[in-house]
Amino acid sequence: MKRVDDFRLRLGSEELVPIVVGGMGVDISTAELALEAARRGGIGHISDAMVPTVSDRRFNTKYVKNKLRQYKFNVASSQKAVVQFDLGLLVEATALHVGRTMEAKRGEGLIFINCMEKLTMNAPRETLRARINAALDNGIDGVTLAAGLHLGSFALIEDHPRFRDAKLGIIVSSLRALQLFLKKSARTGRLPDYVVIEGPLAGGHLGFGMDWAKYDLTRIFSEIRDWIKAEQLAIPLIPAGGIFTGSDAVAFMDMGAAAVQVATRFTVSSECGLPEDVQQEYFKTSENDIEVNTISPTGYPMRMLKSSPAIGAGIRPNCEAFGYLLDSSGSCQYIEAYNREVALHPDAKKLRVMDKTCLCTHMRNFDCWTCGQYAYRLKDTTRQNEDGSYRLLSAEHIFRDYQFSTDNKIALPD
Ligand SMILES: Cc1cc2nc3c(=O)[nH]c(=O)nc-3n(C[C@H](O)[C@H](O)[C@H](O)COP(=O)(O)O)c2cc1C
Repeated sequence: MKRVDDFRLRLGSEELVPIVVGGMGVDISTAELALEAARRGGIGHISDAMVPTVSDRRFNTKYVKNKLRQYKFNVASSQKAVVQFDLGLLVEATALHVGRTMEAKRGEGLIFINCMEKLTMNAPRETLRARINAALDNGIDGVTLAAGLHLGSFALIEDHPRFRDAKLGIIVSSLRALQLFLKKSARTGRLPDYVVIEGPLAGGHLGFGMDWAKYDLTRIFSEIRDWIKAEQLAIPLIPAGGIFTGSDAVAFMDMGAAAVQVATRFTVSSECGLPEDVQQEYFKTSENDIEVNTISPTGYPMRMLKSSPAIGAGIRPNCEAFGYLLDSSGSCQYIEAYNREVALHPDAKKLRVMDKTCLCTHMRNFDCWTCGQYAYRLKDTTRQNEDGSYRLLSAEHIFRDYQFSTDNKIALPD
């Protein structure tokens, strides 16, 4: 019986346990979780989503408070173009988040940062460049380009001295998206070091429409693998989305995957950033309690627990404090939805906005309970306490279970 540990991921001169813990913003895949994956010889991701906000939590900085103070005059206005991020402060926050994480790294593994293009921050190109360059400056081992096609992202950072030595990868959900990325990046003379192929059962935002159920990770993976081979490109492929056991992972390794990326199982680890009461919601959930909806203002469908407090909450947009999803003209789909409801119900004390959510605020408060499709199986990965609650797991336990289990078995904690 083969185990994941019978395989190794080769990235340049690195030889790694082929388990990648995926990025989970905002600070759900914490530095502690990523460090644990690296300590065990795999790859862990921190996320660059809302880094100033995360830095305030981690290091007691005051980026959010200060930004709100600076733009307080604009809170009641629906025009948010004026609310800009200070690039110097953004670099400073990224330096703290990445630098401190890298200083703490132990073991043979690597730490990457998940970098979302849809985090447009009122100045998409400038903020993306500042974030990636600052992560590279502060020693990140690799950057995974996520949530977007990233057609210009390699060109944005090609002058960075580490452009050719750091590991750079991209997440795609189709062969077409990969082909487009390679075509547009060709001018930089650099291929990605790895490609994560994310299928429709993943957590977070999906690279599919609401017809996601028609797609299948194995099929997309095979199509990309065959094309890569035909083109004689030697790019390691890393499938993700619904890989729940070591045996699921081995099946992909046998098909030619270089590693697997997993996330949902780690949402119930002690190192994960979710508060414990939310983790208990993840444990308790059943298949019918999970949905894919379109409330994210990014325009991408997102999977989450139906009981997420973010659904239907009609709070005033918080762009002066956050504003991570403002596009280049200072708009966000939530602002439009909120203003529509205000106009329809001018006297309402409490508004409900059903079609969009203020994702920044709700991710910041851990009120958007995004998860992979198999979150309903999490209860089968642990033991119940006498009071009916579920026991959290250590990231090490989950990592080792992926690494060493066979026969679709899941090891329960002692
Ligand atoms: C709670 C949660 C948050 C996530 N956030 C992000 C994110 O910020 N960026 C991203 O690229 N992927 C995100 N993902 C996707 C994961 O990185 C990963 O690719 C995917 O969930 C793997 O499938 P699995 O959860 O079934 O193992 C998230 C997943 C979860 C469960």
